[in-house]
Amino acid sequence: MPGRAEPMIAPSILSADFARLADEADAVGNADWLHFDVMDGHFVPNLTIGLPVLKSLKQHTAIPLDCHLMIDDPDRWAPPYAEAGAANVTIHVEAAHDPVQTARAIRAAGALAGLSVKPGTPLEPYLDVLKEFDTLLVMTVEPGFGGQSFMAEVLPKVRLAREHVNAGHLRLFLEVDGGIASDTIEAAAEAGADVFVAGSAVYGADDPARAVEALRAQARGAMARR
Ligand code: DX5
Ligand code: ZN
Repeated sequence: MPGRAEPMIAPSILSADFARLADEADAVGNADWLHFDVMDGHFVPNLTIGLPVLKSLKQHTAIPLDCHLMIDDPDRWAPPYAEAGAANVTIHVEAAHDPVQTARAIRAAGALAGLSVKPGTPLEPYLDVLKEFDTLLVMTVEPGFGGQSFMAEVLPKVRLAREHVNAGHLRLFLEVDGGIASDTIEAAAEAGADVFVAGSAVYGADDPARAVEALRAQARGAMARR
């Protein structure tokens, strides 16, 4: 059974120039979502941007903002991202105390709710919880930094989630994040992903919008084969 017809490409502004975020969003005007990595220096060793930056950037771009919260206590901090106008707010299952309650709060504030799993976190214990979510973000690197190598060994989790979606047990965007580039996106798409985060592969390119289009074409081709 085929998956979603059209892949979605979400450039990660982690690889953009943080002093010029509005321009960097404009540079990928053909993106489906703009991926917004929030890191707190606790859940992950790195520290990035947060709610005030989201609120400011939202004034300068019409691209839906895809917030990936790599933070402790997302139960407390996630709903304000939805209230601020994020299109999708993803929390990490390893950090959440009550993912179902938090998903409901995110949705009640008008955003899609996402659940993310680190490479070492299995999916099976969360298949039931995922009924409350709109997005599953499978990390294909250890969260924390851009520019790392894609971990193909996590693709069985994408395949498992795709089987559950195709069987009608779950309704989810299947998003992959980390090391997505021209040499890895097809394997992720064949496994069942339909939303592709790409940081360095987009913002490291001479023409970020062309990189988005090229990745989309590759993903589309691979999705048609599955
Ligand atoms: C890593 C972040 C990713 C990162 C991906 O923890 O969650 O979104 O920006 O960067 P690349 O595409 O360079 O691996
Ligand atoms: Zn991310």
